[in-house]
Order: sequence, then structure tokens, then C-alpha cells
Amino acid sequence: MTMNRATVDRLIPGALASSAVIGIALAAAALLCVPAALTAQGHMPGDHEPHLFAAADFGIDPTGVTFNKDIWPILVRSCVNCHRVGGAGPMPLTSYQEVRRYAGRIKAKTAIRDRRGAMPPWYVEKDIGIQQFQQDPSLTDEELAMIQAWADNGAPEGDLADLTVEVDPRSEDGWRIEPDLVVSSAEFLVKGGAADWWGEIEPIDVPLEQDRYVKAVEIREVNDVPTQGTGRQTVGSRWVVHHLIYSTRPPGAHLLEGTFWPVHEVGRNPDFFSEERGRLLKAGSQITSQSIHLHSNGRDTRSHLEFGFEFFPEDYEPEYETARVGLADGLNISIVPNRDGQELHAFGDSVRQGTDEVRVLLELRRKLEVFVARSRPLHSIQKLRIKVVLRALRVAQLR
Ligand code: HEC
Repeated sequence: MTMNRATVDRLIPGALASSAVIGIALAAAALLCVPAALTAQGHMPGDHEPHLFAAADFGIDPTGVTFNKDIWPILVRSCVNCHRVGGAGPMPLTSYQEVRRYAGRIKAKTAIRDRRGAMPPWYVEKDIGIQQFQQDPSLTDEELAMIQAWADNGAPEGDLADLTVEVDPRSEDGWRIEPDLVVSSAEFLVKGGAADWWGEIEPIDVPLEQDRYVKAVEIREVNDVPTQGTGRQTVGSRWVVHHLIYSTRPPGAHLLEGTFWPVHEVGRNPDFFSEERGRLLKAGSQITSQSIHLHSNGRDTRSHLEFGFEFFPEDYEPEYETARVGLADGLNISIVPNRDGQELHAFGDSVRQGTDEVRVLLELRRKLEVFVARSRPLHSIQKLRIKVVLRALRVAQLR
């Protein structure tokens, strides 16, 4: 991947007006893509007590808690997603031998529960607000009691016959998805002491001869940093691509006709799309990005990115088609404190195919473009995007 310094200049704020359509649309896209991890406000450590529980309170005999029977299933559900070879976690937790010496740390980190530094990193408090989430990795009081009893009791392994839960074999090395197509960037070098770098990448050709709908996408950074023995196993020392915001489209196609993909961030796991709505990878596309952020890890590192796409079958047709309509600005969501059962219905992003909604939304999109082309200050875009949502809502309500 060659970094093009001339193009970086185009992206600095002062230059935004000269390429309003692309610049502002990108800024808007970037706003939508800011990873939650960057914006989440962690609590400071030290403002709470660890969550400690007595096994007896759950009818658990503390001396009977073993790795194979009780702890392993917890790790498989909530930890090995990241704590595996090549994962975001600093060490694999995929066998008793690997886990045992961390028993004390595991007890401490999981007992932090919902404050900064907690494992798994999931900061939803248990005693207030919404409690039901899909794929919630957080630990129950009983699971914490189990971990604590196990660690305090010398972290016994237990009976091998109790080891019934298996790790998804794909999570042990390499790809987490089953890619049908892997596209590599060119190799690049990030020097040991280099300053952070933000910029654009040269478009990468995607060798695809027919349009395909994508079921899952994963990006892996492949580099020459040793995985063991450097004494620095954290995410920051293993990778140099901090993040990449990217899209795909055939050369010459308008930016808004492209497909935007979830942002890649350091240590990110794969993204899976729903059965009803695969994402379109058009034949002859190129991967383009105006926003890659490189961050030195302290040593000269040769690296490249691999983009893995797993496809739906060739005859797959999505039930929903994508229309690019902003859902407000992500800032003006009104949540009333201390009230249960609040809902935010945001829609307009996916609409049923072959219905009027598609036409209406595409029309709105055209208007949006016209507006973007004329307007300069970012805040008017936000206003417009909110208006779009309201109008789309009104259309839907009239039906
Ligand atoms: C989303 C990815 C992710 C998940 C899921 C996750 N971890 Fe971690 N874990 C990390 C990262 C990244 C670090 C290093 C940064 C840090 O300590 O905050 C870490 C650090 C740790 C450490 C500290 C290691 C040390 O040397 O101090 C322990 C212990 C740990 N994790 C245990 C767990 C356990 C147990 C679970 C499941 C209950 C879990 N983690 C789930 C990503 C994850």
C-alpha cells in the first residue's frame, strides 16, 4: 500500500470546501463510523469495590469448582473470542495450562465487572437500565462466585471427562470466517519511531467477475512482529494499523454508489451480516480508503492487510436493499433517565426491495447530494440528515 501525501492535503479541514461533496460525505460517513470504543466513557478505576460473591450463596460447594466443569464453559462463551492465538487479548486462554497461571488475574479482572479494566470488556451495569443484549458476554453473579471460588481454591483442573464444551475450531488460528475471497494490500513499512500517520491508500483491485453478496467480512493485519518473546504482547505492540475506514466500488462509480464496510480497528473481530441483508461487493470493485491511521509499535514493522470476504450463495437475493440515508446524527438521541422500557426505532437504512420506500429514499438521497454539494458548514448537514429521517418516517406512516 503506498501512502499518497498529496491526497492527504485534500482532507485537511481547510480544504474541505474545495471538494465539498466527497469531503463532507466522507466526514459524515466517518461520524457514523466512530467506533464505540473510542467514544465510550469508561469509569475511572477506584470508584467502586470489586464484585465479590460467596459460593455458598448460590448453593455452590467451593471445593467442587473445577476448570473443566465450570470455568472452561465461561471462557469459551466470554473470553476466547479475543484470548486466542492472533486475537486481541494479550495471551491465549484456550487450555488449562494457559489459563492456570492467570487464575488470580482472572478473578481480579472479572470482579471489576463494569468499570475500566474489566474482563470481558463490557461496561453495562447490572443494576440499572436495559439488561437484555444479544450475545451478551458479561458474567452473572453466580459465574463470578464460581471464578472466585475456583481461584481461591488453587485453580484445580478437575476431571477431563467434564470437558464437554469445545472452542469453535476456527477461532484458534487465522481466519474466523471462511473467506471465499482474500484480497491483500501491498506491503508497507512503519518505522519504530514514526509519528502517527493518517491518510489515503492506493486503490486495491478486487478480482471479482460477478456481483456477490457478502455474508461476513474480516480484516487481518499480517506483519513481521513476533507473537512471542518480545515481552510486549498488548494490542498496541502487535499491530501498526490503528484503524481503516474503507469502501468498495468499481473505478469511476460515484462514492455514494459504493459499499461501505464496518470500520476496521486494531484487534477487531469479524463482522457478520444478517441473512436478510448481505452487503454487495460489485464486480470489478476496488477497495478505497481515505482514512487509514498508522501508529508505530516501537519497532520497524513490515505489514500488510488481508481482506477476507465470505459470500452468500450465487443465487442469493437480499430481502432488504441498502439505501444510504443518515439516521439522525448519533448525538440527538433522547433517553429519559430512570425510565424502563424506552425504545429507539431508527429505520430508513434498510428498506424492503421493490417497494415505494426504495424509490422515495433514493429520491431523498438525490436531494441529499444536491444539498451536500451546496452547503458548507457541517452542522447544516446534520440538520438535513435529521430532516431526511423525519420525512422518511412520514412517508412510512402515511402508508
Ligand atoms: C473483546 C476482547 C476481549 C475479551 C472478550 C476478553 N478480553 Fe481479556 N483482555 C483483552 C485485552 C485487549 C487485554 C489487554 C488490555 C487490558 O488489560 O485491558 C486483556 C487483558 C486481560 C487480562 C490481564 C492480563 C494481564 O497480564 O494483566 C486478563 C486476566 C484477562 N484479559 C482475562 C479475560 C477473561 C477471563 C475474559 C472472559 C471472562 C476476557 N479476558 C475477555 C481483550 C479481551
